[in-house]
Amino acid sequence: MQHISSYQEAFVKHLETFVSPKEPSTLYEPIHYILQLGGKRLRPILTLMTAEIFECNYQKALDAALSVEVFHNFSLVHDDIMDDAPLRRGKTTVHEKWDVNTGILSGDAMLIMAYQLFENYEPKVFQDLAKLFSKTALEVCEGQQYDVDFETRDDVTIVEYLKMIEYKTAVLVGAAMKMGAIVAEASVACQNAIYDFGKNLGIAFQLQDDYLDVFGDPKTFGKQVGGDIIENKKTYLYLKALEFSEASDQRQLEHLYGVNPTDASDKIETVKQLFVSSGSAAATKKAIEDYTQKAFSVLETLKISEANKAILKTFGNNLMNRSV
Ligand code: IPE
Ligand code: IPE
Ligand code: MG
Ligand code: MG
Ligand code: MG
Repeated sequence: MQHISSYQEAFVKHLETFVSPKEPSTLYEPIHYILQLGGKRLRPILTLMTAEIFECNYQKALDAALSVEVFHNFSLVHDDIMDDAPLRRGKTTVHEKWDVNTGILSGDAMLIMAYQLFENYEPKVFQDLAKLFSKTALEVCEGQQYDVDFETRDDVTIVEYLKMIEYKTAVLVGAAMKMGAIVAEASVACQNAIYDFGKNLGIAFQLQDDYLDVFGDPKTFGKQVGGDIIENKKTYLYLKALEFSEASDQRQLEHLYGVNPTDASDKIETVKQLFVSSGSAAATKKAIEDYTQKAFSVLETLKISEANKAILKTFGNNLMNRSV
């Protein structure tokens, strides 16, 4: 098992071989732009780590890791179009730097490239990776559609919200880890347990993403703070604030989530205050911790060394306490 930073380094080296200039540059430049903007590289690191946890040299998992990261970046390019987001990783989003059509087609190409990377594996591993990937990618689409549908619904429940984030985000974190286990040819029981660990961690991760979208530091967050409030996203913060509030605050929140002012700064400020005063901000923090603990309890069922469990727990705790 290596240090996390060495997986990151190895991954970035591998990525660099992937982003050589190609024609038409108007298709490939945006792809290379988004892939080289960085980001935390959380999913590919998890793929590499998981391969090693199941006693396989991480290098064998580099293409699977790259596939997951290319898919993730594809989903971000399309997500930023859907969320009308101006900023990604502190830089202009692809559809704003180029245009929406460029974002659509470059995104499509990335999805295909992600699949293509599996061709480097022998038939059995190829088939298992492709099968998991197709299922996961379709679930991400379902999650993304729920997310958009919820913007204009006023009866979204916590259960629906949790299912939505499980699909749009958590299944990919689970799949990233399961892919490492597939490449390592770990048993199906191990593959499924590590998937569940990743999925619960992924739910905590998306809850934290929603929290940072409201309370993150605009100087370091890299995305537009308040973007989810502007888009009327029915997040855990919003749903819990409704649940915890008196009727007059409920009405105010519901009203604010039914309007789209040109200057949203007052709306963002008021909503933020309601999230804190209602106790919903604290409840969200608690839910992040609970899902992280749930992930950790899955680890107890896995037959891997205590040292490796400790590494995965440190990773989970760091995610929970991140600010970007
Ligand atoms: C952003 O993912 C999209 C979500 C699923 C929350 P990350 O927070 O992993 O984005 P990068 O890759 O580090 O920029
Ligand atoms: C994104 O959720 C999930 C996917 C890209 C599939 P968000 O819309 O919350 O992600 P960010 O905040 O834009 O990164
Ligand atoms: Mg978004
Ligand atoms: Mg979104
Ligand atoms: Mg978000």
